[in-house]
Amino acid sequence: MIVGIMGAMPEEIDPILKRLENVTKHEIADNIYYTALYGSLDLVIAYSKIGKVFSALTAATMIERFGVKKMLFSGVAGAINPELRIGDLIAATKLCQHDLDITAFGHPYGYVPEGSVYIEADPRLLEVAATAARTQGVKLRRGIVATGDQFVADEARKEWIGETFDADALEMEGASVAVVCDALKVPFFILRAISDAADMDAGFDFDAFLQSSALKSADFIFTMLDELDRAQ
Ligand code: ADE
Repeated sequence: MIVGIMGAMPEEIDPILKRLENVTKHEIADNIYYTALYGSLDLVIAYSKIGKVFSALTAATMIERFGVKKMLFSGVAGAINPELRIGDLIAATKLCQHDLDITAFGHPYGYVPEGSVYIEADPRLLEVAATAARTQGVKLRRGIVATGDQFVADEARKEWIGETFDADALEMEGASVAVVCDALKVPFFILRAISDAADMDAGFDFDAFLQSSALKSADFIFTMLDELDRAQ
């Protein structure tokens, strides 16, 4: 099975690449894609660059050019839910675009005609993640993830996103990857480890915790790969 693993930044995929041998590099559309074998799985790995447009491009390229059949995203997020602490893992049950706004035409936030406010992650991959978490004794939360082309470092904006979308965490790529995977019928799973609380300290915390939280997320992705490999 061909499995795609995406991050947005080098820090999010470096810990994954470090654990693989015989990695091959491919250059497509100003980005680098890495392929490697992991057990019986064929992996395609890339960081997209930050934001919805680049992450959509990378997801589509992985699916159309490399034949990816399942998509996993590994990275960091800002917490909205106050129960989420730095380093906690959250798997998105569904995702939305908090900065998509045609409310002027009477539509709800996050909606465009022929789209939907939320896109649901694949229930089977969520189950694989739950099994991996149980067997490894790792705490994995589930929740709604809101995506936008905005680094949120503002209590009022964070609260608005939380209230409007019932979101638990926010980041900048999950929903765009979800839109692409949903349209191209590829099951997807978005994992995030908390790096900050999207408040006025967010910039500082993000810099301080990006690497450690990205590593937690990447480590968990490997426990999922082990499950997927076993199930083959
Ligand atoms: N990813 C991690 N922290 C974030 C934040 N505060 N805003 C947007 N994306 C993030």
